[in-house]
Amino acid sequence: MIQFLLNRELRTEHALDPNVTVLNYLREHVGKTGTKEGCASGDCGACTVVVGELDGERVRYRTLNSCLTFVSSLHGKQLITVEDLKHQGKLHSVQQAMVDCHGSQCGFCTPGFIMSLFALQKNSTGFDKGATLEALAGNLCRCTGYRPIIDAAEQACCQKQPDQFDAFEADTVTRLKAIAPRETAELNSGDKRCLVPLTVADLADLYTANPEARLLAGGTDLALEVTQFHRELPVMIYVGHIEDMKRIEVTDSAIEIGAAAALSDCYEALSREYPDFGELLHRFASLQIRNQGTLGGNIGNASPIGDAPPLLIALGAQIALRQGNTRRTRRSRAYKVSKRLDDDHRRRRGDRRAHRPAPAKRRWKPNSSRRSSCRASRPTRRSAPTRCPSAWTTTSRPSARPST
Ligand SMILES: Cc1cc2nc3c(=O)[nH]c(=O)nc-3n(C[C@H](O)[C@H](O)[C@H](O)COP(=O)(O)OP(=O)(O)OC[C@H]3O[C@@H](n4cnc5c(N)ncnc54)[C@H](O)[C@@H]3O)c2cc1C
Ligand code: FES
Ligand code: FES
Repeated sequence: MIQFLLNRELRTEHALDPNVTVLNYLREHVGKTGTKEGCASGDCGACTVVVGELDGERVRYRTLNSCLTFVSSLHGKQLITVEDLKHQGKLHSVQQAMVDCHGSQCGFCTPGFIMSLFALQKNSTGFDKGATLEALAGNLCRCTGYRPIIDAAEQACCQKQPDQFDAFEADTVTRLKAIAPRETAELNSGDKRCLVPLTVADLADLYTANPEARLLAGGTDLALEVTQFHRELPVMIYVGHIEDMKRIEVTDSAIEIGAAAALSDCYEALSREYPDFGELLHRFASLQIRNQGTLGGNIGNASPIGDAPPLLIALGAQIALRQGNTRRTRRSRAYKVSKRLDDDHRRRRGDRRAHRPAPAKRRWKPNSSRRSSCRASRPTRRSAPTRCPSAWTTTSRPSARPST
């Protein structure tokens, strides 16, 4: 069972397919169709919603792409959609600003823009053009051009007034505390399950008991299997409620980053010590994706075009792994994971057969010695990383700040 606030309404879900995204949940289960689907792959921002999480005695608001977020990750949080902004018959100031500045034409992208502007307004004390462009970089509009939308951002941030979310904040904090997870939760429907542990030890036990499970962090990669490839993920273990895996610690000798720390949270720590890494993270996807995507997921997806691993390798980062009670620390290094990498090597060597399919007689035969040696030296795309539920990345700190 999971619980969360849908704005101010308490939702309790016992039996729900854990493959349901927040977008489909809103549109098909709750009947709130204000949030739109454009691409279902995290690119257009039409599905942007805001999620509120406890931050001490305050609520911290962040944008997410609801098309790539599974409902299980809402456990203990507050979900705010475009329908929740209008209050007592009056548009919210960000909605009014979009009207005043003519920021909407066809309107399909507008709910997503409104939610990005709402989170921007909540997290700002005045208008900052850089922060505005950053906040809107994950929202695509083909109709208005961005100038009127940026004008709306300026109006909304400059004329910020306390709203209903400020008025209810203390109450929201109390209610979020009341539903804060206290033990491993589970969302299931038939054979499909998503387990939500709270500690690394519980995660290690659950993963040992369910070795077929897929680890779910931000889901910005994993959810594409459902939304783009129409596969089902029968068992998932969500790591986003494990506080130990979200910690970022800066000591005299190292920066330790929990595998489930959001990329947005890594940004500050890393950019302070390594300005170039900060620059890279700044270009990494969009704010919505960085708010939900994690460093552990970026390593775990073993993508040959993942942005963080090359830098971690260059920085000599160490990765702490755990499977069951076995722990290991490994220096980050490159794995050959893609066919494209093979092709690139061959092309550099001038091998013109790079793109030709291998003739049938040259295919590897089961049990051939060649096959087993290849397997040893080339971990498959998924198998190696998914055995590392509690990866921590440690980079040693430079004695002096590198120049930019
Ligand atoms: C629109 C869009 C833009 C993107 N842009 C970029 C970009 O610019 N650069 C880039 O590098 N990537 C990009 N990505 C890919 C993705 O956002 C990142 O790789 C992100 O860091 C993945 O993190 P996550 O927490 O969402 O991973 P998830 O989707 O939750 O997981 C990804 C994989 O890692 C595994 N995994 C998760 N946590 C762990 C763990 N602790 N231990 C072991 N395995 C684990 C999962 O089982 C899964 O196989 C983009 C994705 C989208 C949708
Ligand atoms: S529908 Fe396009 S980002 Fe979600
Ligand atoms: S108003 Fe048409 S896509 Fe944005």
